Parts: sequence; structure tokens; C-alpha cells
Amino acid sequence: MSYNLLKGKRGLIFGVLNDKSIAWRVAERAYEEGAQLVLTNTPVSIRLGTINELAKRVNAAVVPADATKVEDLENLVRKGMEHVGGQFDFVLHSIGMSPNVRKGHTYDELDYTFLQQTLDISAISFHKMLQVCRKADAISEWGSVVALSYIAAQRTLYGYNDMADAKAMLESIARSFGYIYGREKKIRINTVSQSPTPTTAGSGIMGFDNLVDFAERMSPLGNANAEDCASYIVTLFSDLTRKVTMQNLFHDGGYSSMGMSFRAMKVYNEGLEYRDVKEDKTHR
Ligand SMILES: NC(=O)c1ccc[n+]([C@@H]2O[C@H](COP(=O)([O-])OP(=O)(O)OC[C@H]3O[C@@H](n4cnc5c(N)ncnc54)[C@H](O)[C@@H]3O)[C@@H](O)[C@H]2O)c1
Repeated sequence: MSYNLLKGKRGLIFGVLNDKSIAWRVAERAYEEGAQLVLTNTPVSIRLGTINELAKRVNAAVVPADATKVEDLENLVRKGMEHVGGQFDFVLHSIGMSPNVRKGHTYDELDYTFLQQTLDISAISFHKMLQVCRKADAISEWGSVVALSYIAAQRTLYGYNDMADAKAMLESIARSFGYIYGREKKIRINTVSQSPTPTTAGSGIMGFDNLVDFAERMSPLGNANAEDCASYIVTLFSDLTRKVTMQNLFHDGGYSSMGMSFRAMKVYNEGLEYRDVKEDKTHR
């Protein structure tokens, strides 16, 4: 159902890989709500994924850019603005990747070159994107920028590895840049901390299926899926949330406020055979 919340607005969306991507759902919802879109991803993700299929469906341009490369971002912003014929009213940063997770390095045996790549791709790219947009004056007054985060920025979840550090940094960038961009142009910047969601990036996390099940049992409303996330983000892009900025907004069915639920405790009691796992490396 459309409420025309984004009628006449222009948006730039990072991170559509395939139809499981959270960004895919956001693009679909934004289009339904009346927005004109530019989609972007790395050349390799464009080649291996299905972004062009979505672009056809939502009548969007696709401009390749590696979000860690400032020149790529400058080119993207220039071409993107040409395509939509002006400034963007909203931007979605939906990017995450850890080479340490991919290659199975545990948190106490990080490869530091990989760590730098994790931070660059998953957090510093957000700063680069904002700095490039600001220099090009690419976002309109009262525009809205959202990046996707996860509760591992605040709490330790085994297996999330150096992505936890990246998410903490991402949320900090939203606050620090939110002050500057808000003061100057009334542009708001927030992060949405989403439930575990079965996507390509999500499924790379160790023990992901169990994490989804645990979060589902812990959350009074159940996990938020990608469609739920897209609907929430659309409200943040709309004019209905103009005074919300520099926030990390939990979108997780209540998970972040829980300590223990009846459903989780029941399974724990019934299924538990206590084992000391401290010597087991796979539990890091
Ligand atoms: N899936 C989950 O459980 C979950 C939960 C909370 C937050 N998030 C966050 O949501 C965001 C989107 O992830 P997703 O779950 O939709 O998975 P996804 O794999 O569909 O999306 C990740 C995207 O990052 C892009 N990317 C990687 N390196 C890039 C680079 N250098 N430049 C530009 N783009 C690059 C990939 O091409 C891909 O499109 C990420 O920030 C992720 O951490 C995911």
C-alpha cells in the first residue's frame, strides 16, 4: 500500500546485490511511495548480482561505484544528480563486508590488513559518501541519510567479529556528521539497527541461523524482516520525521530491550546439556 510519502523525492541507494538485499526492499518501497531513484554498487556486485533487474522494475539508473574510492563516489554523485535532475532528498548506505569473517579469522586472530578493509568498506565509506555529497552540495535541505547497523555495536555477540567495531564506528559517524550537516543544511543522519535478516551479508556471519532463531524467540514482536525494515526506512526518508537525527534507531521487534524471554528460556531449559566451550575456538 502506498501513502505517497516520497512523492517528488529523489534518492540514492547503495547496496542492492540481489532480491534478498535490504537495499532491494528499500528501493522497491521508495519507488512505490513515489521516489525517483539512482542505484549503485561495485562493478563486481553489479556483474554477479541482479541490480539491473530491479533497476528496470523501478525505473532507476545504475551507476557503478566502489564506496571506498572517493573518485568513484564523486563520479557517482555527479552522474546521479544529472540523472535525477538535481539534488538528492535521501540516501541509503546499506554496505557491509568483513574479509576476516569471510576468511574465518577469529576476533583474537585478526588479520590487520583485513581489519582495515572491514572498517573502510563498512564504516569509513559512510564518511566518504557524506563528505563527497557535502562538497558537491548533493543533498537537499531537510534531506535524510540512513545507514544500516546492528546491535553488535553495543553488545558482544559471538561470531560477529570485527564487524562489531565497524558498526560502532558507523554509528559514531552518523552522530559526528549529523551535527555538521544538521547545523548547516538541516540534513538528518541516522542509523537503523536491524534484526538479523537472511541476506548474502547476513548469512556470512558464524552461526547465523541460530542467531536468527534466538532473536526471534527473544523479541516480543518477532524479528523484523527486510520488508519491515524498508517500510521503517521510508518513514525516515519522508517529511514525517524531520526532527529525528544523530540517532541509532533499533528496528528489531523489541530485542534490544530484552534480557530473557519465556520462549528463549523454555528452549534453553529443555535442550540444555551444559558443556564448557571455552577451549573451543569456533565459539569466538
Ligand atoms: N542481514 C542482516 O542480518 C543485517 C542485520 C543488521 C544490519 N545489516 C546491515 O545491512 C546492510 C546491508 O546488508 P544486507 O544484509 O542487505 O546484505 P547484502 O549482502 O545484500 O548487502 C551488502 C552490500 O554491500 C555491498 N558492498 C560491499 N563492498 C562494497 C563496496 N566497497 N562499495 C559499495 N558497496 C559494497 C555489496 O555489494 C552488497 O550489495 C549492511 O550494512 C549490513 O551490515 C544486516
